[in-house]
Amino acid sequence: MIKITVKEENHSRHKTPCLIVPCLDQETPGPYLNSLDQALNKVISQSYKDRRFQGKLNQTLLLNAKGLFTADHVLLVGVGKADEFNLEKLRQASASSVKLAQKSCFTKAGFDFANKALSKALGKKVSAQDGTQAIAEGAALGLYRFDEYKSKSKDEPPPSQIKEIVVLVDSKQDLAQGRKGVSRGLTIASAVMEARSLQSHPSNKATPSYLAQTARALGRKHGFTCKVLGPGEMNKLGMGSLMGVAQGSEEPARFIIMEYSGAKKKGSPVVLVGKGVTFDTGGISLKPSASMDEMKMDMSGAAAVIGAMAAVAGVKLPVNVIGLVPATENMPSGKAIKPGDILTSMSKKTIEVLNTDAEGRLILCDALSYAERYKPRAVIDLATLTGAVLHALGHQAAAIMGNDDALIADLIASGEETGERLWQLPLWPEHEKAIKSDVADLKNIAGPGVGAGTITGAAFLKQFVGDMPWVHIDIAGTAWGGEDRHYVSKGPSGYGVRLLLRYLEQLS
Ligand code: BES
Ligand code: MN
Ligand code: ZN
Repeated sequence: MIKITVKEENHSRHKTPCLIVPCLDQETPGPYLNSLDQALNKVISQSYKDRRFQGKLNQTLLLNAKGLFTADHVLLVGVGKADEFNLEKLRQASASSVKLAQKSCFTKAGFDFANKALSKALGKKVSAQDGTQAIAEGAALGLYRFDEYKSKSKDEPPPSQIKEIVVLVDSKQDLAQGRKGVSRGLTIASAVMEARSLQSHPSNKATPSYLAQTARALGRKHGFTCKVLGPGEMNKLGMGSLMGVAQGSEEPARFIIMEYSGAKKKGSPVVLVGKGVTFDTGGISLKPSASMDEMKMDMSGAAAVIGAMAAVAGVKLPVNVIGLVPATENMPSGKAIKPGDILTSMSKKTIEVLNTDAEGRLILCDALSYAERYKPRAVIDLATLTGAVLHALGHQAAAIMGNDDALIADLIASGEETGERLWQLPLWPEHEKAIKSDVADLKNIAGPGVGAGTITGAAFLKQFVGDMPWVHIDIAGTAWGGEDRHYVSKGPSGYGVRLLLRYLEQLS
């Protein structure tokens, strides 16, 4: 993990190989950058004039300043227009600039977060704690790479690496706040990276037991308890739907129960539920082989919940939170469930399995029934549930549906703040009708011609939440990034960790 320190120092006195300077999208650099511009023989204002650099969000320009300024190089990074500025923009700009600094073979950089001057230029206050937190999150997440399975070659030199960033602040008071912000930012980033690594590991490593081990280890490290149920205990609880999916696999299923008590009083907890299908072949309703490898990430909901538990405990939020992860493979075999089979769930509701590839809802429904024992103030489930959500929203937003408008609104707001966006889809009685079975209480897919695959998935889950306030978040599109962008690279995004943390933060 990158080292980030905070220093009370003016940029003109800070000796560094590379000074990163946030810039606004406007006609000229503005008075905020006047003295730096003068020192660099007006090369900054000239760049604005020539439109080589205009401060557009994530735009970068690396200048050699040797002999002209205390720093050897100045790296300008755009944070966008002043009236559109928020912490998400700063988080992105931090990632973009630090990534370029690393690519340019710097091993150390300074980040000029003169928050008074920046606040003045922006016309709004950016606190030292919030700002430094965003910078730390962006830098750490932007530099994340997963290379555990690559052999270290003796001939090739290791790729260059940024090892330290010094964030410059204005005053003693900001120094203390800045240190808090950086420490919080790095704790959160490391929880997101835990989630990304879980997503990245192939299914022969990240088995249900591996998810359980990881949750245990993180619980010990950050301070939450972790209990793990095996097949025998799940059968005893009557989790026939979850065990139905698990019966086709040689890998034993696990039910992971994480409990964090941060609130002094025994207040009712928020329950987080994450889909933990460590590999989804589709089962007897087998998926096509093209891109089937991607289904190693069908435990991204589980990764988000485990990561969120680590983050919540890591920053010691004063709330009570429970994390539940039903974990299994979905495999075809002589013992696997077949289309037409009927399962009895923990709720005693019977389910006709018309497609074994709609397995996520079959394991989540038993976890939702288990959640009832906590009398939760809210239940939030995250799942890579449907390919349909990719058609609807792409990689840009996850779909949210539920039975509680206030809960939905709070989560959408948290999504805007963290950049982990949500878009609400409706959940109407017609959708619930579409999953009634002729021979059992429910069927696990809607009939042909109904469409709305993401919504009927949610409608199925709704049958198991009783009157608990509940939302379902379909992350099949957001869990895996489509392209490299700022602090999320192509591949595992760790989506959900920061969203859940932010939601829980504003509760407390
Ligand atoms: N895990 C998949 C959904 C998925 C698709 C996740 C693409 C990530 C990327 C899920 O279990 C599934 O197979 N869903 C089916 C549901 C259908 C059978 C009703 C789907 O989306 O096709
Ligand atoms: Mn499936
Ligand atoms: Zn699946």
